[in-house]
Amino acid sequence: MSATSIPIPDYRSLSPDVAARFERIRQRPVILSVKGLLKKFGTNGSARTVFEGVSLDIHRREFICVIGPSGCGKSTFLRIVAGLDECSAGEVLLDGKSVAGPGRDRGMVFQGYTLFPWLTVKRNVMFGLEMQGKNGNSAESEARQWLDMVGLGKFEDSYPHELSGGMKQRVAIARALANEPRILIMDEPFGALDAQTRCQMQSYLLQIWKKVDVTILFITHDLEEAAYLSDRILVMGTNPGRVVEFIDNPIPRPRSPAQFLSAEYLALKMRLEELIHPPVEAEEDRLPMVKLTNAGDDVE
Ligand SMILES: Nc1ncnc2c1ncn2[C@@H]1O[C@H](COP(=O)(O)OP(=O)(O)OP(=O)(O)O)[C@@H](O)[C@H]1O
Ligand SMILES: [Mg+2]
Repeated sequence: MSATSIPIPDYRSLSPDVAARFERIRQRPVILSVKGLLKKFGTNGSARTVFEGVSLDIHRREFICVIGPSGCGKSTFLRIVAGLDECSAGEVLLDGKSVAGPGRDRGMVFQGYTLFPWLTVKRNVMFGLEMQGKNGNSAESEARQWLDMVGLGKFEDSYPHELSGGMKQRVAIARALANEPRILIMDEPFGALDAQTRCQMQSYLLQIWKKVDVTILFITHDLEEAAYLSDRILVMGTNPGRVVEFIDNPIPRPRSPAQFLSAEYLALKMRLEELIHPPVEAEEDRLPMVKLTNAGDDVE
């Protein structure tokens, strides 16, 4: 029987609808501009460059996923955008203004659960609103709106330990969005969830993003997650960290799991695999072989 091969298009060839969508996105204002970003850790003699020459523009309401090998500086990059860490050279501009520290215009959601365990779900979301000086009543009604948005209105009086991992992350998203940030920065937010909950959270996030005027910068290790969520995928390389490619996602919106079988998806996935997992010398050729069994028959 002869093997049949499916024709895979070039991942850069966009259908007319998708190309037109990118035209529209590029006409929107640039919200985040990163220019020649360089980060070193350590002092002069022992300084180590984490990444260099990172430059990019992100437009309003784009959904950007960041992928790259472990240690290439993805989290460090996001922390600098969030104003939690300083760069060694270069500049980050949000709405044209230089970022010089954390601010309400950037919301963050991390992989670890960061809710205050001693506060109810509603109080967790109200926290930032009250810090802004909103009075109790308006903070409470706004918190309720955000909890309804993430489908957790019924759990407003629960405590974080009474929620599943996915629910905790939905509260974390509501809490971050309640400050009405310009950009939502997410560092592997679904990394600790099981595969099924992760899929549900991905579609929740897309639904929320459609309703809110927010730009999303989202780190993931999961290539399928990046393909499902993003408008564009920033691929970072390592040693030192740098931008390898910034890919226009060719998969049309609205997204559905059925698209995982489409030609565009396969083309994108193959390219991402090529960039993230380049072919290497087979491990077995490099490892010293130590035989720990006397069994006569070899394992296939
Ligand atoms: N505070 C720090 N001091 C010194 N080195 C650091 C510090 N934070 C990060 N690094 C180093 O910078 C490099 C990039 O780290 P970073 O956490 O940004 O990588 P990453 O791409 O997010 O990795 P992962 O995918 O594993 O989360 C790593 O080599 C790390 O050891
Ligand atoms: Mg990281």
